[in-house]
Amino acid sequence: MKALVLGASGATGKLVVQQLLNKNINVRAVVRESAVIPGQISDDKSIEIIRGNINDFKIAQIKDLVKDCDTVICCLGHNISLKGILGSPHKLVYNAVVKIIEALQSLNLNTKFILMSTTAYTNEKIGELNTSREKIIFSLLKMFLPPHKDNMLAADHLVYKLSTKTNIDWVAVRPDSLFDEENVSEYEIHNCKIRSAIFNPGKTSRINVGHFMVELITNDQLWQEWKHNTPVIYNKE
Ligand SMILES: NC(=O)c1ccc[n+]([C@@H]2O[C@H](COP(=O)([O-])OP(=O)(O)OC[C@H]3O[C@@H](n4cnc5c(N)ncnc54)[C@H](OP(=O)(O)O)[C@@H]3O)[C@@H](O)[C@H]2O)c1
Repeated sequence: MKALVLGASGATGKLVVQQLLNKNINVRAVVRESAVIPGQISDDKSIEIIRGNINDFKIAQIKDLVKDCDTVICCLGHNISLKGILGSPHKLVYNAVVKIIEALQSLNLNTKFILMSTTAYTNEKIGELNTSREKIIFSLLKMFLPPHKDNMLAADHLVYKLSTKTNIDWVAVRPDSLFDEENVSEYEIHNCKIRSAIFNPGKTSRINVGHFMVELITNDQLWQEWKHNTPVIYNKE
């Protein structure tokens, strides 16, 4: 089994890669030239590290990246800095999702695609609704915070733009407020948000996000349960 991981140098991406390697899954990781990868990961014989900016990759390069992979996991996100939040590319995640899907469709591959999304995404297709106060805040965020808009567009692309006849099975995992903890702990998965992402957010550890993603690709029953869906993940309180 081989997994392509985008955003593999990120706080969550690294944990996803480590957990894939722990399960003896081969990994192809795409990281920027400047990215620092811990030796524990880079020295592993099951990892291939591709250096370059995914946003600059043309579709032919993306096809090369995905062609022998069973899974693609996207943990891309905007750096929490002025440049990361307001600078280009504003559509980092969306662009990557669109290109990956296009590559998988044109190669007619049955590759699983997992997107790291967020509870700030409201999946109206499954009946989720925002309160009036949430609607106001989310509209403002969409107008003034490019990373938020990017995450919304990326998830919308999977939820609304993929035909039901597509060969691509996807899951958009929605963590709430992220934090770091050393070990995997108990967590719960819900079809819909059970708390307000704005006014009463829950917590999700990055290592648990990685654990759930790896479970999704190694446990077919779990994949069948969640494919084409946007599960929400919270740490157990
Ligand atoms: N913060 C929260 O509470 C929260 C909650 C739910 C969901 N999320 C979402 O979860 C995702 C991942 O979170 P995280 O904390 O793991 O993110 P992170 O540590 O910031 O990782 C982001 C990844 O994207 C890469 N990246 C950033 N800007 C890039 C660019 N311009 N070109 C190419 N690659 C770029 C980073 O590469 P470098 O290492 O080279 O910078 C890194 O690999 C984000 O989309 C975020 O919106 C966040």
